[in-house]
Amino acid sequence: MENNFTELLAQDQTLIESGLGKIFQGDVQYADLQASMEYSLLAGGKRVRPVLTLETCRLCGGSREAALPFACAVEMVHTYSLIHDDLPAMDNDDLRRGRPTNHMVYGEATAILAGDGLLAAAFEQLARAELPAQRVVEAVACLSSAAGPSGMVGGQALDIAGEGHALSQGELELLQSLKTGALISAAAELGCIAAGGGPEVRERIRLYASALGRAFQVRDDILDVTCTAAELGKTVGSDQANEKNTFVTALGLEGCTALVEQLTRQAVDALEGFQAPDFHIWLARQLAERNK
Ligand code: IPE
Ligand code: IPE
Ligand code: MG
Ligand code: MG
Ligand code: MG
Repeated sequence: MENNFTELLAQDQTLIESGLGKIFQGDVQYADLQASMEYSLLAGGKRVRPVLTLETCRLCGGSREAALPFACAVEMVHTYSLIHDDLPAMDNDDLRRGRPTNHMVYGEATAILAGDGLLAAAFEQLARAELPAQRVVEAVACLSSAAGPSGMVGGQALDIAGEGHALSQGELELLQSLKTGALISAAAELGCIAAGGGPEVRERIRLYASALGRAFQVRDDILDVTCTAAELGKTVGSDQANEKNTFVTALGLEGCTALVEQLTRQAVDALEGFQAPDFHIWLARQLAERNK
């Protein structure tokens, strides 16, 4: 079973890489901008969000091919968020996905524009999906709300505003569920939307993915203090350097490990009632134990 899931994951990742590789087929007029967008987009990355989109589409009765444009769109938004997150004005980091960060190579102005370009092009991907118009409209509403001021961008704003002073546990939970949970939740919901899943199914998917997304960020905070840059492929110790509020500062490493476990169980419990949720269960456990 384990091998089957690893194989399925690899197939999804191959499909995603191929989809992402075709996004900017020579239609970007300024070569440096295209190079800068593709530098970050095609640098690997775990592809957790688009995998969730493809597999959730299958879980809800669709095919992964049908969900591919939605999957690419969510990875493009995520990649834009990473480029901007690393900028000197934000986390000021110099390593991402095993490479120097975008602004280190292309300069700040092009890195900002690469992020802007990826965000806009992501919505073009959604709009061009060959799916019923109602599903496309729902997908646009879902991704824009998760990426925007009441989702990821709002969480990033709270993250930056909280630097240097302690937040309450409630504020920290809100910050993390917005900056990371919202997009992970949208990734799974987009799969459900592509499959034509109804509101009740979508709500259960949302419960699964928002718990998964919170666990994912707590694990990210753990790895920032326990891993090396070579292992992670990104700057480590960044949270402490920037005086960030993380669950490591609030609960300590042991408390964080327990919280990841609790949130993962919550995610798995939300899958009750689905016919074949085995991959989603396996993925939640893998992510709880991940080391990169
Ligand atoms: C890193 O995301 C930023 C967070 C929201 C925690 P990932 O850990 O998914 O990074 P990639 O996509 O694999 O590079
Ligand atoms: C980033 O959180 C969340 C985003 C929206 C990009 P972090 O700042 O902790 O992500 P990493 O650790 O740099 O990947
Ligand atoms: Mg950050
Ligand atoms: Mg960061
Ligand atoms: Mg981090």
